[in-house]
Amino acid sequence: MTVTTDAQQCEAITIEDVDFARLYRNHMVRSGRAPKPASEWDARVRAGGMCRSKSSGYAAAFLSRMDLRGARTLLDVGCGPGTICLPLAGRLERVYGLDYSAAMLEALCGEAAQQGIENAVTIHRAWEDDWSDVPVCDIAVASRASNVADLDAALDKLSAHARLRVYMTHLVGGHFMDPAIADVLGRRHQGFPDYIYVLNLLHRKGIHPRVDYIEIPSRLAGTDSFAAFAARVAWTYPDLEQAERDRLRAWYDADPGRAAQGGAPMRWAFIHWEKTT
Ligand SMILES: C[S@@+](CC[C@H](N)C(=O)[O-])C[C@H]1O[C@@H](n2cnc3c(N)ncnc32)[C@H](O)[C@@H]1O
Repeated sequence: MTVTTDAQQCEAITIEDVDFARLYRNHMVRSGRAPKPASEWDARVRAGGMCRSKSSGYAAAFLSRMDLRGARTLLDVGCGPGTICLPLAGRLERVYGLDYSAAMLEALCGEAAQQGIENAVTIHRAWEDDWSDVPVCDIAVASRASNVADLDAALDKLSAHARLRVYMTHLVGGHFMDPAIADVLGRRHQGFPDYIYVLNLLHRKGIHPRVDYIEIPSRLAGTDSFAAFAARVAWTYPDLEQAERDRLRAWYDADPGRAAQGGAPMRWAFIHWEKTT
């Protein structure tokens, strides 16, 4: 029998041997939270939960990093209410917003009508659906919309639908809330797969993207009382027990400045690449 030591095993493995697509899928399963169904996004937009993009400065930060030179069309995947595609409609011939949430697309159409935008087209579709009739555009975008079960397949689709450039953002660190708060509650869980998977998967495809970071205030930032703060925490943990509330209160009172900021800010990796012919 041959005994292999850890050191020997490590020597036999290089990064070339790692199946990042599978690693990502495993990580997503481990996170214990399957990607949301469209109905959850429908409910969220109907409850007015998608209004923070403008006020947080996220959309402006994304848009200011884009290069539209030579572009006439844009495909915005997981477009939501049109956060990225609508502000660009005036500079392009046509923008397409693709999303699997009908309510998101209704919100996009409502916003477009309000702003007198007539060149925005919606496509009711999921990442996982057949995209053979989805137009290939000069630019493809996926803003905060790549938390999918199969990232490798999604990246292939996104890249194949761009002639000039691709822009996307993916979460840094895998948590939508400062993990210190989950620790206080005793509810720390495996985060979502973070952006490093995107880089490794793209590298495997021979794509070497540029990376920047967009930092926005925590979604818990800006409250002026513990009740308001706890109500925000309840978006993520609706079933807080009294003992958990008490610990949260202690965390809140311990450092009012930190509490007002809602803990650590949120960071998105802004990842983009040029298509080469
Ligand atoms: C966090 S929102 C981002 C919306 C917008 N791109 C932005 O940055 O404000 C995620 C969006 O992706 C959509 N989405 C999530 N999973 C999807 C899937 N599998 N197929 C299509 N759209 C999806 C949701 O409906 C939602 O509109």
